[in-house]
Amino acid sequence: MYLTKEEENILAGNEGEMLSKLLKLLVQLGDSYGADKLIEINSAHTVLNFGLSFVNAAADILHQIADEGLKVKVRTTADPIIDDNYSKEMDFVISLFKLQDQLLADLSKIGVYGYTCTPYYMDNKPKLGEHCAWSESSAVIYLNSVLGARSNREGGILDIASAITGKTPNYGLHIDENRKGHILFKVNIKDFDTHELTSLGLKIGEIAGNKIPVIEGLQNVSYDQVKNMGAASAASGAVALIHVLGVTPEAKNINDAFQGDIPEETIEVDKRMLEEMREKYSTEWDAATKNIAIGCPQLSKEEVISILKKMEGKKVREGVHFWICCCEDVKNFVYNSEYNKILNDSGMSITAACPLLAPQPRPYMTNSAKSCVYSNATYRDIDSCIKTATEGD
Ligand code: F3S
Repeated sequence: MYLTKEEENILAGNEGEMLSKLLKLLVQLGDSYGADKLIEINSAHTVLNFGLSFVNAAADILHQIADEGLKVKVRTTADPIIDDNYSKEMDFVISLFKLQDQLLADLSKIGVYGYTCTPYYMDNKPKLGEHCAWSESSAVIYLNSVLGARSNREGGILDIASAITGKTPNYGLHIDENRKGHILFKVNIKDFDTHELTSLGLKIGEIAGNKIPVIEGLQNVSYDQVKNMGAASAASGAVALIHVLGVTPEAKNINDAFQGDIPEETIEVDKRMLEEMREKYSTEWDAATKNIAIGCPQLSKEEVISILKKMEGKKVREGVHFWICCCEDVKNFVYNSEYNKILNDSGMSITAACPLLAPQPRPYMTNSAKSCVYSNATYRDIDSCIKTATEGD
């Protein structure tokens, strides 16, 4: 790999041993993927956020980085953490997060400023064509597919190494030709809803694996819907970029999406396929639902408002937890708006935590396809979740 004089100087350890180690990690990664050079990044996002004891090796490295006084060079956020509202209800969970305080202190010391899986709602919103180093599969797919910025699916510590050095190896989705679509999904469904789109995401992930899907036939789809669909594809498969024709900036039409080539495969999507996904990924419990969480990925302001409007005049049943999960900025917006009264009157709770960090008690219900890939949750649309919370199963 070509290295600049400045990079060689860092590698030689002339700017400290830790900086040299972090750059070496990126150079070795780049060499293994055939990268020609390192490129500058504008933004980073890490998943080194939650302090369960099994992350102790990574937490030790982060602690050394913070101890040496190194700081991130670009806007850097991290995935959600357990927050106060959540812990009040579920004290016992906190005892499992032994490394949480240390991680938070170290992340804050190096300059990480927000804890969410939707950093683009917290001022970490890269622009079209910007190179980034993001972990968190649901955020990476949004970055590539909606924002038109560029990131590979990074991992914990690699993301920190990039944030500190401001660089990432030039390979994978940073390169134009690697962003070419592979599989065409033709959606022949009129009037689809968000739930059908998240089920579509599951199907796309299963078929595409780590290839790049192109979706034709989604008229008037919102960015939030693409967010939820993409998160599902990134969970049931390893998809990091979906070209949604008319939404993805570099896929204005089918020719752009396939870069003038023809699809390797074409899949016709119908309602039956989506129903299959719903059945496959939903866990049906015999007992009554006790815990419902909406917001995986975390909700936008518009999504939260829409749910609270649906909850106006309704009350969550005794013995049921009903969570709205969103980033701090959206949470604070609710606290300071007229919607706070609906929140309080309804008995719902709002948290900046990840519902998967503590999806207890069971049975657990969600509208999130991603949550259903990773946990034994009942998979329903938002209206069914609200009905269950307020009227029972
Ligand atoms: Fe976000 Fe947690 Fe889901 S990090 S995407 S809410 S699993």
